[in-house]
Amino acid sequence: MRDGSGPTVLMISPSFPADTVYFTRALSEVGATVIGVGDQSVGELHPDAAGALTGYLRLDDLWNEDHTVDRVADWLAFHRASVDRVECLWEPGVVLAAKLRARLGLGGITVDQAHVFRDKDSMKQVLDSAGVRTPHHYRATTRDGVREAAATIGYPVVVKPIAGAGSADTYTAGGDEELERVLDSVAHVDEVSVEEYIEGEEFTYDTICAGGRILFENVCWYRPKPLVTRLNPWISQTAVCLRDLERGPVAAGVALGRRVLEVLRFDTGFTHMEWFATPSGEAVFGEIGARSPGGRLPHGMNYSADIDIFAGWAEAVCHGTLSQDVTKGYNAALVFKRAVGDGSHITAIDGLDRLLAEYGEYMPVVDLVRPGEPRRDWRQVVTGDGWMVVRHPNLGMTLTMADRLASEVRVVAG
Ligand SMILES: Nc1ncnc2c1ncn2[C@@H]1O[C@H](COP(=O)(O)OP(=O)(O)O)[C@@H](O)[C@H]1O
Ligand SMILES: [Mg+2]
Repeated sequence: MRDGSGPTVLMISPSFPADTVYFTRALSEVGATVIGVGDQSVGELHPDAAGALTGYLRLDDLWNEDHTVDRVADWLAFHRASVDRVECLWEPGVVLAAKLRARLGLGGITVDQAHVFRDKDSMKQVLDSAGVRTPHHYRATTRDGVREAAATIGYPVVVKPIAGAGSADTYTAGGDEELERVLDSVAHVDEVSVEEYIEGEEFTYDTICAGGRILFENVCWYRPKPLVTRLNPWISQTAVCLRDLERGPVAAGVALGRRVLEVLRFDTGFTHMEWFATPSGEAVFGEIGARSPGGRLPHGMNYSADIDIFAGWAEAVCHGTLSQDVTKGYNAALVFKRAVGDGSHITAIDGLDRLLAEYGEYMPVVDLVRPGEPRRDWRQVVTGDGWMVVRHPNLGMTLTMADRLASEVRVVAG
């Protein structure tokens, strides 16, 4: 499909995190000319990303945004190169991408919009004024500010960084005493969001849009909530990309998600929203990012619909269309394993053979850290000590299989 007739796309950090490689390659496969800017050396780029790029600017201090904008503009001028789009699928680069667009005079998410997508309090303020249900929330920079916010909101509350990721430094407090402990734990965080704790199940609402139209929708059910997984190392997180988006609380979440995109005037690219379904069936906004989800969720989407979502995104961004049939035939559950035991290396994988014999035909991915290899740090990599995918048209069957993989497969360290 590469015919050189597509746009020229500047991709920020084109080879990191890992899934970005697929997105970068897809851009070139749909006919784009792709150039990259990142802080990895050329030698560190994944060969598939490197192979898709026609140019690459390495900057050690990529996150010094204003400096990076100057350097990129100079570099493009020197090469007499022009760019049609700037893309970034990684949360820390969303504002940088917007600043580059502003400098280069390009369409796409503006700096003001990017700040709203990055800042957990601003995004809720904008949504509040449009009547969208969000958790009651305040921003705070001092211990007293947090105490005051908690007193106004009422316990239980959540305290989390205003621009965090991966549930890092995120805590709940059920009363004054617990809040004091939380304050100690987040002392190093400059600014926090203090929020009403929303009881219920947690889901995503993810889309690919072009020109303000939604071309693809996905809802993924986190089991359990990411915060619970973060605070309990023994838990194997599962995330299920649902086949049916039209029933019960899921339909309410989809309606909420569509409204959020409309209010935030999202135009083109990937979005990743999180929301809560309360026991009464209400959908409550959690947060939204102007990027693809991490945690291998794009792969889950692929297995739920037998599609190539990376190519789908690239086509939407470059040509404004998504021509694949995105009908979901399956519920696709991702199961992430964390090694048990105190050892530094994996010594055994228990229980897998039995489940493979039973469910192998429904398991397109089994990618666990092998015995003899070092164990991974699940705080750094969502996949932890490996991941598996199990899929089935029937949700009950999918959950049964996923739960057994989560509880019966044991990756042992030491
Ligand atoms: N207001 C809230 N009510 C209930 N749980 C929350 C709330 N805010 C955050 N959480 C929990 O903490 C997790 C991390 O918070 P989130 O806002 O998604 O930040 P991150 O950027 O770290 O993903 C969420 O996935 C959810 O499990
Ligand atoms: Mg989140």
